[in-house]
Amino acid sequence: MAILPIVKYGDPILRRKVKLVTDFTNLDNLVKDMLDTMGNESGIGLAANQVGMDMNLLVLDISGFEDEDDVDPRVFVNIDIIKEEGEIEIEEGCLSIPDIRASIVRAETITIEYQDLKGNIKTEIFTGLAARVILHENDHLIGKYFTDYLPTSQKTVIQKRLKEISETGFPSVSVTLT
Ligand code: NI
Repeated sequence: MAILPIVKYGDPILRRKVKLVTDFTNLDNLVKDMLDTMGNESGIGLAANQVGMDMNLLVLDISGFEDEDDVDPRVFVNIDIIKEEGEIEIEEGCLSIPDIRASIVRAETITIEYQDLKGNIKTEIFTGLAARVILHENDHLIGKYFTDYLPTSQKTVIQKRLKEISETGFPSVSVTLT
C-alpha cells in the first residue's frame, strides 16, 4: 500500500489530455495505490493524472453512499463518453482543488465505452452519483476542472483561492458556491 502525492490545481499535467493506455501488463499496483490514495483523502473518484501519471485511467469508489448500486471500487481505462442524457445539478469538490466546492450541472445518465484492466472493451450505462464522478474524472483526463464550468462571477470569487492552491496546495479559506 502506498499513498501517492496528489497533484494540485495549476500543475501542467492537469491541463493536458492524457495518453491512451496501450500496455495493460502493469496496472494493478498503480490502481491499488490510487485506491489507497483516494480512500486516505475520503475521495470517491481519482484520475491517473491527479497522481502524476500521464495515462487514461480513473478509479471510482462510491461504496460509502448506501443508496448507490455500485458497492465495489471500479476502474476504467481509455474511457470514452459516448452518450449523455438528462441534466442534474450536484455539488462537486476535487482532491486537486481542496476546500472549494460548487454546484455543477452535468448529464444525469451516461453511456461509456472503456477497457477493463485486462484490456477488454466494454460498454456500460451509469446514472446518478456514479455518472457524476465519471464525468468529473474524465474531465481531468482531458485537462478540465469542474471550476471551468462556473460563470465568470463565481470564477472571480475563487480566483485568489485557486492561485493559493497552485502555490501552497491549499486555500487560506474554504469556499462553497451554490
Ligand atoms: Ni477532481
